[in-house]
Amino acid sequence: MFFALRPRRAVLADVNARLIRTYRGVRNNVEDVIRLLRSYPHDSTFFYRFREANVDGGSDAEVAAWFIYLNKTGFNGLYRVNRDNRFNVPFGRYASPNICDESTLRACSAALADAELLVDDFEVVVAKAKRGDFVYFDPPYVPLSTTSSFTSYTSSGFGNAEQKRLRDLATRLKKRGVRVLLSNSSAPLVRNLYADGFDLIKVSATRVVNSKATARGSIVELLIK
Ligand SMILES: C[S@@+](CC[C@H](N)C(=O)[O-])C[C@H]1O[C@@H](n2cnc3c(N)ncnc32)[C@H](O)[C@@H]1O
Repeated sequence: MFFALRPRRAVLADVNARLIRTYRGVRNNVEDVIRLLRSYPHDSTFFYRFREANVDGGSDAEVAAWFIYLNKTGFNGLYRVNRDNRFNVPFGRYASPNICDESTLRACSAALADAELLVDDFEVVVAKAKRGDFVYFDPPYVPLSTTSSFTSYTSSGFGNAEQKRLRDLATRLKKRGVRVLLSNSSAPLVRNLYADGFDLIKVSATRVVNSKATARGSIVELLIK
């Protein structure tokens, strides 16, 4: 959404410090990120050693290179961690992934130049949003079935109580005149949560990030406003 709209002023936030540090590394030190990415080989031995690295102790550029390398070479581009915040996605089956897409990285760096980047909970981040502001929430999706349950973007997870907390916040923001857009799956829980006071728009989305190959392809998702 941010890279498509490129608003003059923007706040990008996530509770995952590694994701926000990746944006910061790309924004502030893109040439370092590129140099690091160029030096990493595409092989499983390196991958399994590298995913164990104590990345949080490194610079933003090192975090960005670690995050992007694992995203490009890990199974289906998933980001998943265990309770100890250790990345636990296996090596992917790509023949020749574009690990270092230099022109895209430089374009992202330029786009991010004036963005404010925050590591925080969604409710804290939008506390100061005011009438006329636009807020887009891209939460972990409600799983379509219990077997497709995947909410481990962070070690804390994102369950039904969090989905409800987000819906309640969206309701309050709308009452305040903030323009709100959310995306989520078309699971019954989502339809129920947003049944009153929201418009639900069905969109057909191509999903490449899915741990089950059979669940990839075109599926219906919801845009909620
Ligand atoms: C579908 S992903 C969106 C990723 C993001 N839009 C991006 O591409 O950079 C859902 C995100 O919600 C984040 N998240 C989970 N719980 C959160 C919370 N309480 N506050 C803020 N973000 C949270 C996860 O860390 C994850 O990155």
